[in-house]
Amino acid sequence: MKIASIEHSLLRVVLFIILSHLCVADTATNGSSSDPVVLTISGKGGNKSSPLLYGVMFEEMDHSGDGGIHGQLLQNNGFQGNSLGMTAYAPIGSVNISQDTSKPVSDAITSSLRVSVSSNATEYVGFANTGYNGVPVRNATYNSSFWMSGTYSGTINLQLIGSHSGIVYADHNLTVESTESNFTQFKTTFNSSASPDGDNEWHLTFDGEKVAGSALNFGYIELFPPTYHERENGLREDLATVFEKVKFNFLRFPGGNNIEGLEIDSRWKWNRTIGPVVDRPGRESDWFYPNTDALGLDEYLWWCEDMQMTPLLAMWAGKSYGGIVSGSDLQPFVDDILNELEYLLGNSSTHFGALRVKNGRKDPWKIPYVEIGNEDDLTGGCDTYPDRFSQIYTAIHDAYPNITLVASNGDYSCLPSPVPEGVIIDLHLYRQPDDFVALFNQFDNQPRNQSIMVGEYGCRNTSNAKGTYWSYIQGSCSEAIYMMGMERNSDIVQMAAYAPLLEHFGFVSWSPTLYGFNSSSGSITPSTSYFVQKMFASNKGDTVIPINSSTEFGPLYWAATKSDSQYYVKLANYGPEEQNVTVSISETKSGRLEMLSGSRLQGNTPYEVDVETVSTKIEGKEGNYSVSMGPWAIAVLAVA
Ligand SMILES: *[C@@H]1O[C@H](CO)[C@@H](O)[C@H](O)[C@H]1NC(C)=O
Ligand SMILES: *[C@@H]1O[C@H](CO)[C@@H](O)[C@H](O)[C@H]1NC(C)=O
Ligand SMILES: *[C@@H]1O[C@H](CO)[C@@H](O)[C@H](O)[C@H]1NC(C)=O
Ligand SMILES: *[C@@H]1O[C@H](CO)[C@@H](O)[C@H](O)[C@H]1NC(C)=O
Ligand SMILES: *[C@@H]1O[C@H](CO)[C@@H](O)[C@H](O)[C@H]1NC(C)=O
Ligand SMILES: *[C@@H]1O[C@H](CO)[C@@H](O)[C@H](O)[C@H]1NC(C)=O
Ligand SMILES: *[C@@H]1O[C@H](CO)[C@@H](O)[C@H](O)[C@H]1NC(C)=O
Ligand SMILES: *[C@@H]1O[C@H](CO)[C@@H](O)[C@H](O)[C@H]1NC(C)=O
Ligand SMILES: *[C@@H]1O[C@H](CO)[C@@H](O)[C@H](O)[C@H]1NC(C)=O
Ligand SMILES: *[C@@H]1O[C@H](CO)[C@@H](O)[C@H](O)[C@H]1NC(C)=O
Ligand SMILES: *[C@@H]1O[C@H](CO)[C@@H](O)[C@H](O)[C@H]1NC(C)=O
Ligand SMILES: *[C@@H]1O[C@H](CO)[C@@H](O)[C@H](O)[C@H]1NC(C)=O
Repeated sequence: MKIASIEHSLLRVVLFIILSHLCVADTATNGSSSDPVVLTISGKGGNKSSPLLYGVMFEEMDHSGDGGIHGQLLQNNGFQGNSLGMTAYAPIGSVNISQDTSKPVSDAITSSLRVSVSSNATEYVGFANTGYNGVPVRNATYNSSFWMSGTYSGTINLQLIGSHSGIVYADHNLTVESTESNFTQFKTTFNSSASPDGDNEWHLTFDGEKVAGSALNFGYIELFPPTYHERENGLREDLATVFEKVKFNFLRFPGGNNIEGLEIDSRWKWNRTIGPVVDRPGRESDWFYPNTDALGLDEYLWWCEDMQMTPLLAMWAGKSYGGIVSGSDLQPFVDDILNELEYLLGNSSTHFGALRVKNGRKDPWKIPYVEIGNEDDLTGGCDTYPDRFSQIYTAIHDAYPNITLVASNGDYSCLPSPVPEGVIIDLHLYRQPDDFVALFNQFDNQPRNQSIMVGEYGCRNTSNAKGTYWSYIQGSCSEAIYMMGMERNSDIVQMAAYAPLLEHFGFVSWSPTLYGFNSSSGSITPSTSYFVQKMFASNKGDTVIPINSSTEFGPLYWAATKSDSQYYVKLANYGPEEQNVTVSISETKSGRLEMLSGSRLQGNTPYEVDVETVSTKIEGKEGNYSVSMGPWAIAVLAVA
């Protein structure tokens, strides 16, 4: 992904993509005749399929993390970054509120909210936080916490309340003792009833009479709904559950552009994303809003572990949008990478390993894959990347020989020559539908000794980089065909990560994404591409098997895998005509047919899930299955 000139990025073509254009599949024909296409699947032979093939790329953008899959619901809760000011705060009662830098909550959280109370106050007064365009309010148990200083002994009232309706969904008191000398944290738990919409806010009020003519300071406020696996500082259960259903094999994180930083000093720094959240300063990100970093290094790894995904962790490799560090100047950053790996993998007798244990993770994490940088073929990174890569590769490989390393691009003029054995190269492709279909055979003629990751891909059918639009059937069908090309070649294509994952409808700077949401209940909307990812990732065998066919590829495409006696045949019809298919798999009896279809431009939009996978039972007649593929349809036949 690229911020400044997406068009340029789209036009950028790596060397072997040019080569693969020489054998473009014919996508314009209608198929042979009205005779069904006959696919005969052999149970014999075939190549091992990568167990990691289907994953997803995650970085903080479009409030995918803060205000998204991370559970904390209040915006600007620690005044992090330098661009938000008083965003999301409002006074309640006769008070003035302001950002107070003279009363930091911690070394990292350098301001608090000063609530100055009028001298004649008699009511409960305080402040509101309106969340990320509202607070999702469900019939559920919420945890909330805040830091507080100033002299106050008595009741604090917390509410979840409709911003315009005034309906109170949760109303909860707690008793506090607060002093002027320092900040104290208070935590509480309460139940709420459900709001029909997302137009809600969180209120904190206190007895104004007790503070009349004076002030209290509040800082690092938090509100959590139920979290996935009930983890503290965890993921939003509802958004995480939709994610989990895809059954991705790996997660590529934390970027992407967002690891790089708009300046060297604003890069993603691992050691500022660990430990108590009140000790995490946050940062201005690459995607136009401050990151809280409450979704930090350990939280990403809990996410992976809880969902049985293999982590693919990216390291900063010397390139930011504001400058590049290389040669001996890079050495401190290489040392920092080794510190990070000691934090992740070291035992408790090591300095950083002990810190991990202190932060709540006793056993070392599993870190089998590390990517060195991001898109170093772009934004001025090409010249220095071979040296930067080699410097970091050597340091990591010497210390951790069994970590597989990933180079951040596939342009051989930006890579060391030769690429060290065992290194995976990472290609990123955002394309229009026809272009993805034309790349169906991109990997067929690749050297078999160079492993590949497609670390970002997705159909983007726009020239407007900031336009908000949705995946639609033709585009998702083209992704399915491209994925079949990868699956057929997954002896070399080891990993493929759809990108990006998630967007808050109110904060979109890149689309489409796999799914989206806002503060309203019922707003979580999977795209047509979500269903393709789910069909592919949850229906993959361990062996790619040969297929005999009665026609050439186009407009119908296919690929097959199996595990033991379970077969998975993927089909896609990239055209406006129905295609009848007979799939013959001897020694199988029955199973299910998953089908995603719709008109060419049909897609899902917020609250409107028009297109979703339909699963039906299917019986074979002596191992023959009749499948009717509607225009632009995508299907998986899973039989045994
Ligand atoms: C596909 O079939 C349709 C209708 O049968 C026909 O109009 C069209 O010309 C055909 N296209 C090709 C490329 O053969
Ligand atoms: C597909 O099969 C159905 C049912 O046998 C038939 O009605 C239809 O005409 C066939 N379509 C094509 C394009 O051959
Ligand atoms: C709030 O600010 C206004 C305008 O500056 C001022 O007149 C008023 O006295 C302030 N009230 C409190 C309670 O500080
Ligand atoms: C406090 O006094 C101000 C004017 O001085 C007035 O506007 C406000 O309504 C009063 N508030 C209360 C709670 O009496
Ligand atoms: C709220 O949730 C509780 C616990 O899950 C459930 O028992 C109750 O029926 C729910 N209430 C409503 C109104 O849905
Ligand atoms: C909270 O405390 C205030 C002041 O004592 C009281 O008026 C209010 O009813 C209490 N609210 C709840 C939900 O207990
Ligand atoms: C704040 O001060 C109080 C009273 O002096 C003390 O009991 C408390 O431990 C202090 N809290 C912190 C976080 O330093
Ligand atoms: C809150 O809801 C939970 C789950 O429904 C229930 O077990 C608990 O008793 C409720 N607590 C209160 C204070 O109502
Ligand atoms: C909510 O608070 C309770 C009580 O402190 C705690 O046991 C639980 O882990 C918290 N849950 C989350 C999701 O933070
Ligand atoms: C993080 O690591 C860098 C580089 O080693 C170091 O300069 C910095 O002080 C560390 N920051 C924290 C918060 O530990
Ligand atoms: C690498 O090997 C060491 C020692 O055998 C082992 O402890 C560690 O878990 C391995 N790491 C990975 C990523 O496989
Ligand atoms: C297995 O790999 C070989 C060598 O690349 C290739 O010729 C063959 O077509 C592959 N088989 C399948 C089923 O993909």
